[in-house]
Amino acid sequence: MFDSLWKNLHVATMAGGYGIINNAAIGIKDRKIAWIGKAEDLPAEPEKLSEYVMDGEGMFATPGLIDCHTHLAYAGDRAPEFEQRLQGASYEEIAKAGGGINTTVQATRELPEKEILELTIKRLRSLFFEGVTTYEIKSGYGLDLHSEKKLLRVATAVRDELELRVQRTFLGAHAVPPEFKGRAEEYVDLICGEMLPELAEEGLVDAVDAFCEGIGFLPAQVRRIFDTAKELNLPVKLHAEQLSNLHGAALAAEYHALSADHLEYVDEAGVEAMAKAGTVAVLLPGAFYYLREKVVPPIDLFRKHKVPIAIATDHNPGTAPVLSAVLMLNMACTLFRMTPEEALLGMTRNAAQALGYLDVCGTLEIGKAADLALWEIAHPRDLCYFVGVNPCRGSMVGGEWHPFERE
Ligand code: NIG
Ligand code: FE
Repeated sequence: MFDSLWKNLHVATMAGGYGIINNAAIGIKDRKIAWIGKAEDLPAEPEKLSEYVMDGEGMFATPGLIDCHTHLAYAGDRAPEFEQRLQGASYEEIAKAGGGINTTVQATRELPEKEILELTIKRLRSLFFEGVTTYEIKSGYGLDLHSEKKLLRVATAVRDELELRVQRTFLGAHAVPPEFKGRAEEYVDLICGEMLPELAEEGLVDAVDAFCEGIGFLPAQVRRIFDTAKELNLPVKLHAEQLSNLHGAALAAEYHALSADHLEYVDEAGVEAMAKAGTVAVLLPGAFYYLREKVVPPIDLFRKHKVPIAIATDHNPGTAPVLSAVLMLNMACTLFRMTPEEALLGMTRNAAQALGYLDVCGTLEIGKAADLALWEIAHPRDLCYFVGVNPCRGSMVGGEWHPFERE
């Protein structure tokens, strides 16, 4: 009846709140969840229902975690810049002096695709072994047609070769590349006239993002990019209000963006606009921590206006060289004062919504993909509580079980 069946586990469905089911069973058929509930309610003995009965050994199953905002594909690192910052230079000063994102752009342009793929997979492994089954991967360190294509092909290879769920996001408007210095408008012409249409035509783009900031792109420029995305039928999202308030969240909402991300400096009008449009707030505690930001995103306003909050690593070499999803769950609580339940919803249900994948994954419910993570914990809140341990014992992506070696 089922292709496989889990027994002897507890479940946090994350459909709504924790949605805990103790002494549960999960039946899987055609890579999807076909049955979930209390084991005692199964229609027959587990062994009569499937040839493959798996023992959860009393562990907790959650939906596979979802990292809905990453810049995993790039070359090199920015450790020297980390040292400069410790000596007093600011992120913006370094960017204005030609460093920052453009340092990574240079390294990324120089490295062949195969090697960038290897680096990307190496980074992703840390997240995978913490139960992350769905990833968003942005381009944005190529900034010319050839190099952006290289990064989107890397993201495609991660999806196809590792058989993971991956959303490939075009972030051509991440920084003005050196050859366009002082000519941002002309670079936006290139994005809208050539880069985005060609990459979309080749089927390499699932969504479009931009960095709306004084050191990035101004709202009017973001608009042009979003208009192009709209013509190509691609959903949009935006790095908004990370360092200042340019009203990017409201702009994103105007275009019915999937998400607005960072949002430390968003105001209530921006939050209200997001609520109306159904735009998810993606918060990035790793970047907040790393930049030693003092202004906390307005959690109470998101709560008040019922804007779903997602949490992601924002893995990138400049502001978040972070490769732990579980640490982000903790930081969402310690730095942003979110509840553990909110934090966990932020890397499951709400992260799926931020990618437009809520029909596919993000909760453990009948009809959803059999994507789950198995944890050696007593309660799901433990995932937010401990720091420096990885209690993940395996994950399932589309019904395919990957047990993790115990050290
Ligand atoms: O999400 N804000 C823009 N992009 C990244 C930083 C990229 C970088 O510094 O390399 C972020 O924080
Ligand atoms: Fe980012």
